[in-house]
Amino acid sequence: MAISYRACRPGDVERVLELWKIGAPGGSTNTRAALETRLIRDRELFLLAWDADLLAGSLIGAWDGWRANMYRLAVHPEYRRRGIGSELVRRVEERLRKLGSTRIYALALLDSPQAGRFWAALGYAPNSGIEALAKNVEPID
Ligand SMILES: CC(C)(COP(=O)(O)OP(=O)(O)OC[C@H]1O[C@@H](n2cnc3c(N)ncnc32)[C@H](O)[C@@H]1OP(=O)(O)O)[C@@H](O)C(=O)NCCC(=O)NCCS
Repeated sequence: MAISYRACRPGDVERVLELWKIGAPGGSTNTRAALETRLIRDRELFLLAWDADLLAGSLIGAWDGWRANMYRLAVHPEYRRRGIGSELVRRVEERLRKLGSTRIYALALLDSPQAGRFWAALGYAPNSGIEALAKNVEPID
């Protein structure tokens, strides 16, 4: 199994949505339009892992000039425990560090049985004293 890694392209969007349906629970903004908007900037931080033409994993990194974040880490169930999740994080971390990031936040799904142990294995610890709050809003044209 030779896994290749490359940035997401507009033509990959439907494949990414399919992967998330089977590989990652939750996600309130999993739409084609949202992904197309995400691809307008920092596309190199939206990384995909491929086994030939099968999409095996995804990770969205983000850098706002102050903090870095990671979202939607998902590995296809048949490809887990082979180091693909770690490699996606390693590659996105490297890109974020090159942009100047010194602190990276990872949004870990509480519903996922693997998430806590995975992020802990990669050195991510609970952010004591801070809770991630969220609000859904409508975009303004
Ligand atoms: C979490 C997830 C991305 C891990 O991907 P992966 O490719 O299987 O992870 P890796 O093979 O790189 O695992 C790295 C390490 O994480 C830990 N880990 C990963 N999955 C684990 C599990 N099910 N149980 C215990 N530890 C686990 C292990 O320490 C592992 O190292 P090891 O295999 O040498 O023991 C994958 O299970 C997944 O997509 N889960 C559903 C979605 C999700 O939870 N996303 C992350 C939350 S945002």
